This record gives sequence, C-alpha cells and structure tokens, in this order.
Amino acid sequence: MVCRIVVLISGSGSNLQALIDKLDRQYGEIVAVLSNRPDAYGLERARRAGINTLVLDHKDYADRESFERAMIARLDEVAPDLLILAGFMRILTTEFVSHFQGRLLNIHPSLLPKYKGLHTHKRALEAGDSEHGATVHFVTEELDGGPLVVQARVPVIPGDTPESLAERVQHQEHVLYPLTMNLFASGRLRLIDGRACLDNKPLGASGIEPERID
Ligand code: GAR
Repeated sequence: MVCRIVVLISGSGSNLQALIDKLDRQYGEIVAVLSNRPDAYGLERARRAGINTLVLDHKDYADRESFERAMIARLDEVAPDLLILAGFMRILTTEFVSHFQGRLLNIHPSLLPKYKGLHTHKRALEAGDSEHGATVHFVTEELDGGPLVVQARVPVIPGDTPESLAERVQHQEHVLYPLTMNLFASGRLRLIDGRACLDNKPLGASGIEPERID
C-alpha cells in the first residue's frame, strides 16, 4: 500500500520541491499540500505538480487551539500516513502532535539540540561556530525536540552571511528530507516506543549516517 503523504508549508517551499522531485513513487504519494499562508509560493509548486492544495489561514481563527482543530479535521479527511513539516512556521500544541504521533516529521535549520527556534544561521555565526547544518526529527511536544533521524553538517566559511550560510544548509536539506521521506514511505523508518528506528533498530544519538543508506 502506498504511503499517503501530506506536506505542510508556510513559504517558498524549496523543500517541498525537493520532496516532489525525489519521491520514490513506488512507496509514496503526496496527496495534499497544506499552507497556513494563502500567498505561500509553495502552493504554486504544488499546483504545478498536480497536487491538491489546502489553505487554512491561522488568522481566520480566534486562537491556536481552534486553528489546530480545523487543521486536524481537514487532515483526517485526507487520511495521511505521514505529515511532513517543510518550513511550516507555526508552533504546534500537544493536541495536534499527539493526534499525529509517529507520523510527524520536521526539518530544522541547525544541528539540534543547538539553536532551537528562529534565526539559527545568524546565531551560529554570532557564536563563531565552525560548522552548522540541518536536522530531521520526529515531532514530539518539545519545540524542535523529538527523536533525531538524520543531520547534515556544513562548514562555516569566513565572510559568510546568514543568507550564504542558509543557502549552503538548504542545499543539504534538499538531500536529507527526501531521503527521510522515502525511508518512512518504504516502511524502514518508524517511531517505536518513542525512539526513531531504522529497520526496527533504534538510531544512535547522531541518527542515520546518510552515506550508509543502501
Ligand atoms: C527551511 O530551511 C527549514 O529548515 C526551515 O524553514 C525553511 C523553509 O524553506 N524551517 C524552520 O525554521 C522550522 N523551525 P522552504 O520553504 O524553502 O522549504
């Protein structure tokens, strides 16, 4: 049975594009793209790929809880096996996260647990870090916490700006996220007893080593 995937976005959707381009259609189908912003460029990418789009503008709702309840209702209609947060810039409550527990992945532009939250590239530069990167993890109640699946490291180069560093990190994100999606869709990656597992074996603290995937 093909894995039904929904991608959640708020913006440009460059990760969404990588997911569309590199999806292994033997295992998965992106059945919808949901945005909380009606003007997100990622919606255009989805339409061009013939993917159903859903827009739920958080500003139309009185509070976070009612916005999320509406999202849960719409998403349940689509019956996703996997939800991929790809630049979805809303903090999710326990209710949402527990509803989709084990089916929810996020990508974050830092080497977690470093630099949770926003402005990660600027913070890495200000700290004088020599390397930076991106992390894919299962989502749990803790913001940018949750069991790590895979990380990519990039060097910080003298003269880097937040923009140049972001570009280098995003290049890696576009490799990591499709890889993770395809592992989940094929049934090899799962959250078991709160731990990220590949082929039923718990991953270590640094997650999957991308070059070791066969
Ligand atoms: C990505 O770089 C992703 O890591 C980041 O938003 C960007 C979205 O870009 N996510 C977060 O900061 C989540 N806390 P995209 O819309 O071009 O894929």
